[in-house]
Parts: sequence; C-alpha cells; structure tokens
Amino acid sequence: MSASRPTVLLAGKVHPRVRQRVEAEFDAISIDAADAALLDEDTRKRIRGLAAATAISADFIDSMPNLEVIANFGVGYDAVDARHAATRQVMVTNTPDVLSEEVADTTVGLLLNTVRELPKAEAYLRAGKWESNGAYPLTSLSLRGRTVGIFGLGRIGLAIARRLEAFGLPIHYHTRNKRSDVAYPWHARLVDLASAVDTLVVIVPGGAATEKAVNTEVLDALGPQGVLISVGRGSTIDEPALIAALTDRRIAAAGLDVFAHEPHVPQALMDLPNACLLPHVASASESTRNAMADLVVDNLEAWLAGRPALTPVPECAGFDRAAS
Ligand code: DGY
Repeated sequence: MSASRPTVLLAGKVHPRVRQRVEAEFDAISIDAADAALLDEDTRKRIRGLAAATAISADFIDSMPNLEVIANFGVGYDAVDARHAATRQVMVTNTPDVLSEEVADTTVGLLLNTVRELPKAEAYLRAGKWESNGAYPLTSLSLRGRTVGIFGLGRIGLAIARRLEAFGLPIHYHTRNKRSDVAYPWHARLVDLASAVDTLVVIVPGGAATEKAVNTEVLDALGPQGVLISVGRGSTIDEPALIAALTDRRIAAAGLDVFAHEPHVPQALMDLPNACLLPHVASASESTRNAMADLVVDNLEAWLAGRPALTPVPECAGFDRAAS
C-alpha cells in the first residue's frame, strides 16, 4: 500500500486494461465477488474507489465507509444500486457514448442474421451441404418491406435508428417521453408501437421500470410476421412468454444478445430454429472494450483527484465534488 495513492477496489472479472491502469495509478485491491466478507475492516475503511464489473449491492456499498466513487464497466448500470449510492453521496459512473456505434453495428448484424439466417447458411456451407444437397433454402423472412419499432431511443437506439433508416426502413419508437429532436412517429405505449411495426428492437436499460416489459401482449401485437431483436438487458423480455410465442409461431423470429440469467441460456431457446442467439457481444470488440476500460479509470482518476466525474449516471449527475 502507498500512503499517497488512493485505494481502489477491483471487484469481479475486471477488464485487463482496467486492472493494469488501476494497479499502475492507485493502491489496488482485488476480489472476485462483491462480498464484504472477503475484506477485513481496515481494508474496507481504506477503499475510496471501486471499479465494478459485477453486481454492487447497498450492503456492499455500506461496508466501505470512505467509499467516494463506483465506476461501472458498461453503459448499463442496473447491477449497481446507484440510488443507494446517491443517498450516501457516493458518485456512480458508467461508460456511455464510447460503445454506441459498436452496439448499433452489432444490432444491425443480429437483425440481418435473424431474418436472412446467415449463421445457419454458413454452417450449411461448412458442413459440405452446399455441394452435396444444393443451394441453401430461400429464407422465409427478409428485411425488405419491414417497419422497425425501437423501444428506447437513447444514444444507442438513435444510432440503430439512423442505420436502419439508411437501409430504407420506416422507423417508429416508444420512450416514456416524446423526443422533440426526431421526426419518427412516437407511440405512448409499447404495445401500440408493437402493433404499428413488424420488427421490434429493444434497447432500453434494465431494472424495475422495464422488467418483463416485452410480454405476451406485446409479442402478440407484433404478430406472426414479427421479429424481435433484444440488445439491452435480458430482464426486459419475459423469456418464457417469448419462448412460447416463438414455439407457436405467434411471432416469426427473434435475435437475442442478452438473456435473463446470463450466461445461462434456456435450452428451450437454444432448441428453437427461429431464434438467433449471441453471447452478449454487442460492445465486445477490443477497441470498444478498451475505450470503455479507459473511461472507467478516467472517471476514478477524475473523482479521486477532486475533479468532476466525466460520465456520472443520472442519479448522481448533480453531485458537487466539493460536497462529498
Ligand atoms: C453495457 O455497456 O451495458 C453492455 O451491455 C456491456 O457489454
């Protein structure tokens, strides 16, 4: 331990670049899980910063009396009890913007893979079936003629909308409040958006407000030609309802990058031929993950040096550095 350097805790499977920079710049301590029992009292008292790559509960926050900042790796911070942190004047930061374009690119790829079955077509070729059986069957679905609804028109949602607009597809959206800066038709209710479109892209934050928002009613409103693409959080989808809708062909197909209980993916989903599944890779390129890692450490550096956080979450946006 260095007396002059603030102590920062690395909790969970932190990105190597976060680890490298925190170890170089701070007095670093590592634990595999955010469990106060893994730290003695003196250590807990020393901790001023936390680089989070796992769920951070209110109890865990309370176990560190001198904690000043929690820097979450990811734009989604539903696993961190930010509301509780805010009541203790602990700053919480996330990693917006640096991943928006990457996630939007992946979303378009997932949509194309879902409707045009490109992963299956490649598997067919690799299995030698092109030569032995002839051409891959024509896909029943196409992107052509589709109308896209975006559930969540934040930074990433907008980046997805702009891309799909360039593909010639009409865009609608649902958010709690209508945006004044876009001309896309807005629907006050998710179910109305689902009725108006045949392709629903879900890119809202996780948490109680969106828990299981995509339910049977929404899926039935999307209809038998419907395609669901989910790239926000698995908790937003009622997974059993989705499995039933895909099984009964009440919707046509789904492309999912996120799941309710990652890394577990229900076998029923894996068995479905009309589900295209990815292991939460929307932002997972080396360059984007490095940019996210840098933003985590830049936030720690700024706050622990007495400067404003670079990307505070809304719960902490009004914090005055001098007041904490
Ligand atoms: C995020 O940033 O929240 C992503 O889901 C992480 O990959």
